[in-house]
Amino acid sequence: MRTRDEMLSVLKAQRPLIAPSMLKCDFGNLHRELEMLDAADSRLLHLDVMDGHFVPNLSYGPMVIERMRPLTESPFDAHLMISDPEKYLDEYMRAGCEAITFHLEAVPQPEALLTKIRRKNVVAGLAINPGTPFSAAEPFLKFCDLFLVMSVNPGFGGQKFIPDVVSKIREARASGGSDLIISVDGGIGKSTIGVCAEAGCDVFVAGSSVFDQPCYKSAIAELRQLANDSHAVC
Ligand code: DX5
Ligand code: ZN
Repeated sequence: MRTRDEMLSVLKAQRPLIAPSMLKCDFGNLHRELEMLDAADSRLLHLDVMDGHFVPNLSYGPMVIERMRPLTESPFDAHLMISDPEKYLDEYMRAGCEAITFHLEAVPQPEALLTKIRRKNVVAGLAINPGTPFSAAEPFLKFCDLFLVMSVNPGFGGQKFIPDVVSKIREARASGGSDLIISVDGGIGKSTIGVCAEAGCDVFVAGSSVFDQPCYKSAIAELRQLANDSHAVC
């Protein structure tokens, strides 16, 4: 497992990064999917954890992540869409998550939990839903390594990108500076990635636009190229 510093250098040196969302993979062929993503030069995996409470859907938890861990060298970025992330934090760390992002809507005073994640040598991320203004998160940016702007209401893959959120990426970049890793999640594809990159986003979570394509390698390469063409920070 990478330390927080190692993970931060991976994330910063390689931005813009495409992070396939494993919510959309074929779970019956998990090992094969991971091999295909490695062969497709995927450099970060986005792991969507849902509890059927914070969001109206269930996905997978630490037991599945732990089994995935030895099957790939890719860094693991967990997106916890759960009501009580603190309660399960250690389990996700033990399972091999090197970045852990939880929601401001689940933890309205997140500085203590962000600090706890950092102290445990893991990259600390904070996410906001489309309905939450940037101003609600801004006081906590200094405790974050990563800021995740949701561009759909969380819970399901394959939803339509909400363009209003782009201004939040721009605000986060202006306020957080070049050190902050900014990610966007939901409805990211060929027609939406450019505007997010131009606004200053670094990490692009992609579910349908990778897993619904016949060739993961060309899907990721094309998205990376489009993000590169517009990326504002590096
Ligand atoms: C939504 C998840 C996303 C989702 C992305 O709640 O957080 O990561 O799987 O899927 P697409 O790219 O299809 O919107
Ligand atoms: Zn996600």
